[in-house]
Amino acid sequence: MTKYYLSTILPLLYFVGISQGYTQSSTHEVALSFFEPLPPVMKGAEQDTSALISLGKKLYFETALSINHSQSCNTCHDLNNDASGVDHLRASIGALGSVGERNAPTTWNAGLHVAQFWDGRAKTLAQQAKFPLFNVKEMAMTSESQVIERLHSKGYLANFKEAFPKKSSPINIENTSQALAAFQRTLISKDRFDDYLAGDRNAINQSEKSGLLVFIEKGCVACHNGAVLGGQLFMKMGIVHPYPNKKDKGKAQVTGNPADNYFFKVPSLRNILNTAPYFHDGAAATIEQAIEDTGWHQLGIKLNKQEVNSIKVFFNTLNNQKIIEMGPKNKPENK
Ligand code: HEC
Ligand code: HEC
Repeated sequence: MTKYYLSTILPLLYFVGISQGYTQSSTHEVALSFFEPLPPVMKGAEQDTSALISLGKKLYFETALSINHSQSCNTCHDLNNDASGVDHLRASIGALGSVGERNAPTTWNAGLHVAQFWDGRAKTLAQQAKFPLFNVKEMAMTSESQVIERLHSKGYLANFKEAFPKKSSPINIENTSQALAAFQRTLISKDRFDDYLAGDRNAINQSEKSGLLVFIEKGCVACHNGAVLGGQLFMKMGIVHPYPNKKDKGKAQVTGNPADNYFFKVPSLRNILNTAPYFHDGAAATIEQAIEDTGWHQLGIKLNKQEVNSIKVFFNTLNNQKIIEMGPKNKPENK
């Protein structure tokens, strides 16, 4: 794997040209050969009506979906306070107080990933949404009928009827998941790097461009590329130097195949400075730590302080500028 991977990366490095002397346009061209702007809409959103999206938004913030009314999706994927889409805990804490196994990834841009969860065990956002509802370490609901009852007693019938006009009894788990997915499909972030990729060459400054080139030259782009700088592949954590925490086997827990041991979905790096702590186990408290660690475990290199800082400066361009409006009408953001 390492060999194959180096053989892909080396020509890239050659292409990029490790020495100085980049012109404005060549940096931009190099960037466009690895990254692309975020799409204006997510795949699958074509049929999402505004009634479906606003139902999904209401459900996303609905604490009645947890056993003791203490938690909503937003508790662990916060779009409200700091708009990060995470809870900033090493591992999430469920409605009943138990600590989960993994760090909560952000819901921003999640629908652009190849699959959901660190181990990819849900293919789509709609499939994913059913897991937290019934996970005892998350919302801990005990049955589908309990969820349906809660939604009826909270007066959701009209909202569901509007979102699913053809159904006579529209409140069910499938439709709940569909609505949650539709809302999350609107969560496409907006940042300066995107403006840069779209053609505004001054959207990021000179030191951010230098950081971008460090990120490319060091080989981070081998895994973190495309529109969300990740989200498209599963890679072993510790591909060069083993990762110390061996507890979580990642994708192998889903496939049962030992060849998938310690494979995790390559996370998106959009808005990365706002989603600490990092990694599936939340072990890296700071971005500096995460950059150093990935350099070592994924590339076998010791990045010096200046390189780490330069990459961090580039990450500034990925800060999300979009805010979810929480108005009384629950007006969806991207429609
Ligand atoms: C108790 C905290 C908690 C709650 C409540 C919660 N989640 Fe999560 N969520 C997590 C954690 C932790 C993960 C990662 C788990 C894993 O990968 O095994 C996750 C993963 C996800 C992902 C996958 C993102 C990715 O990049 O792979 C999505 C999407 C998501 N949650 C949406 C939701 C929705 C929708 C709800 C409400 C129905 C919800 N979550 C409720 C903690 C929570
Ligand atoms: C071989 C593929 C690969 C390469 C190369 C790689 N990464 Fe990653 N990166 C991953 C994987 C897989 C994870 C998730 C690991 C985990 O959580 O255990 C990750 C996680 C991260 C995270 C934490 C994200 C989060 O939300 O928790 C950051 C930051 C990061 N990488 C930055 C970098 C930087 C900077 C470089 C270059 C120095 C780099 N990566 C090189 C695959 C790679």
